[in-house]
Amino acid sequence: MLYSTVREFFPLYKAPRGTSDILPDEQGYWRYVEEKAALLCQLYGYQRITTPVFEDLRLFSRTVAEGTDIVDKEMYIFQDRSGQKLALSPEGTAPICRAYLEHGLYNLPQPVRLYYIASAFRYERPQAGRQRQHHQFGFEALGDADPALDAEVIEMANQFFLSLGLSGFSIQINSIGCRTCRPNYIEALKQHYSPHVASLCPDCQVRFTRNPLRLLDCKKPSCQKLAKTAPKSIDYLCNDCRTHFESVQKYLTALGLSFQVKHRLVRGLDYYTRTVFEIESQREGAQSALGGGGRYDDLMEQLGGDSTPSVGFAAGIERMVRSLKAQEVNIPALPKSDVFVAYRGDEAKLEAMKLALRLRRSQIAVMEATGNRSLKGQMRQANTSGANHTIIIGKTEVENQTVILRDMKSGEQKSVPSAEVEAALEGVNTA
Ligand code: HAM
Repeated sequence: MLYSTVREFFPLYKAPRGTSDILPDEQGYWRYVEEKAALLCQLYGYQRITTPVFEDLRLFSRTVAEGTDIVDKEMYIFQDRSGQKLALSPEGTAPICRAYLEHGLYNLPQPVRLYYIASAFRYERPQAGRQRQHHQFGFEALGDADPALDAEVIEMANQFFLSLGLSGFSIQINSIGCRTCRPNYIEALKQHYSPHVASLCPDCQVRFTRNPLRLLDCKKPSCQKLAKTAPKSIDYLCNDCRTHFESVQKYLTALGLSFQVKHRLVRGLDYYTRTVFEIESQREGAQSALGGGGRYDDLMEQLGGDSTPSVGFAAGIERMVRSLKAQEVNIPALPKSDVFVAYRGDEAKLEAMKLALRLRRSQIAVMEATGNRSLKGQMRQANTSGANHTIIIGKTEVENQTVILRDMKSGEQKSVPSAEVEAALEGVNTA
């Protein structure tokens, strides 16, 4: 007795830190986001792909890359019983590129447009909008270098947030060049930072040698001061990258999108080339990035494939749900049961079970009472179920082959022949 009381107050198990249960109350938001995502992708010609929750560890260490926080500090890594090193996917792009190469999707007309809704795992310090397991909706256009495709992906991301009913977000873009021009830029960055290395935060001191581009992304005030005066990547672009970035901006403008060029935007994954972009909520405080993406023209080669220029985007579903709530966007209610079936006595229970089965086969959603609760208890359950009608079967109804049909709003009740329940429900639903 004492043990069970203690357990009630201190459950033995809790969801691991940084993860959360999505309870039925929340599911309306998730269904809304997922339906809008599917509709958007259909409109833009993107098809769904699902990849495994875990992958070969090297897939991420080669692409997202060592020297990034995600690979160095945040991956969930484990060895399976055969000794293979695996990682829970921290993001969706590298797995999709792996699938593209593995299944020869390069044989299809290019670009191949794919989308996904998947879990992502990162061992981060949990806070509002930052979890260790989060969910992403993302889309990728693989196998085409046209800057019009960058514009398509950015516009599509913008359209997605609009279709959710969200407002107050902004689009930031930048170009971080390619393998030809970026080394010159990295060199200029290092020159800018080198007299000040001792004053950098410990993380940035490591970044200075391992991943200088990430210096621009540090949120610490002392490092931000240096980032503000740092050289800009767009001043170091080669001719091809400059033309590409100008075209992206020209197309975005032609599509009527407003955006800002943010010189310090570099993104937290290493596979990007040329265009990078982020969509930020101006209303949320910390963790305001609703989504981000960019071009990754070299990623397929890093995985052993041919050159396959590609571009994509992903947004965090938890952050969208947070914004939908904060902005009080009206979400359609999830469908409830049409009918609750209550009974009194064993014979009536059998009839109730058979009737419920029959109604469900006619596409009528039925919730059934169970156990030997009093009729009063069953009616309470009927009320909370949200069903519009309750069917009550007692001894008299079994004998007469009828049911009592109760309208839950008006409280009106009538006796209906059991064989005519579907018609009676149809009548009230269409009246
Ligand atoms: P990312 O910026 O790392 O990009 O993640 C995409 C989005 O996922 C973020 O903008 C944010 O909304 C959400 N997110 C990231 N980490 C967390 C977290 N710990 N908790 C809650 N939400 C989070 C990528 O993952 C790239 N694969 C995007 C991409 C697709 N680039 C090209 N194609």
